[in-house]
Amino acid sequence: RTVYLNGDWLPETAAKISIFDRGFLFADAVYEVTAVIGGRLIDYHGHAARLQRSTAELGIPCGLDPEALLAVHREIVRRNDLREGLIYLQISRGVADRDFAYPNGAEPTLVLFTQSKPVLENPRVAAGITIALVPDQRWTRRDIKTVQLLPASMAKMEALRRGADDAWLVEDGFITEGSAATAHIVTQAGSLVTRGLSSALLHGITRASLLDIARSEGIPVEERAFTPDEAKAAAEAFISSATNFVLPVTRIDGTPVGDGRPGPISMRLRQRYLEVRL
Ligand code: PDD
Repeated sequence: RTVYLNGDWLPETAAKISIFDRGFLFADAVYEVTAVIGGRLIDYHGHAARLQRSTAELGIPCGLDPEALLAVHREIVRRNDLREGLIYLQISRGVADRDFAYPNGAEPTLVLFTQSKPVLENPRVAAGITIALVPDQRWTRRDIKTVQLLPASMAKMEALRRGADDAWLVEDGFITEGSAATAHIVTQAGSLVTRGLSSALLHGITRASLLDIARSEGIPVEERAFTPDEAKAAAEAFISSATNFVLPVTRIDGTPVGDGRPGPISMRLRQRYLEVRL
């Protein structure tokens, strides 16, 4: 692979970062994942806007203006002849001697790499995935997409140990989101329920697109928190994220959701999302 590091295009083995990078020492870095299908970026502008917001919240200078950043995304697709997969982007505050206080004038470290993998044809769509409920142990600024991912990683490992495919995180009796995806349910009355935006969860780009699509399809939308019991009793459940789009959830802590098969509204939203975004 050819990767991007601070203005240079390098073979992946030649791209090196300092051990003093604050991304490495403090998780002082933010990231974005953008899907690529047929060589085209999916929902790029939403991801770019969220990156802008994450860096602004942490006072990390973004380094590249929006047009240059888009050009780098297009160029990495071209250089890797990427047809289907994703682009990972990370920007850290940069390199400085270890100190909790932010350094003055550090140059941010900007990295992009690609992963080529089938994202459209996902065998888990037809089968659906199973979810284990796990306590949410992350920090309280989950609206900032930092690389501080160990609690999410631990939650996923607990879910796998319990025989599920992934975790939904629970805090104060409500589901916040998935380990790396937004959590949604469809009520027995046919409303799409997804948690409202706050610092408790990442403001999913796919979520925003899906809510627009649901509204235009005449599906009632309720942006509010929901409990594990409500999720287990729902007609349908699904997750959304940049590389999964919509992925049906068929069991929560062993309880079948609806008839235990991917639901029609989930599948319709997946299909519409791909039609609208491709
Ligand atoms: N994860 N919530 C969390 C905690 C996430 O990590 C993600 C994305 C989402 C969905 O956001 P979006 O629709 O903008 O991708 C929600 C990415 C894909 C990842 O970490 O790989």
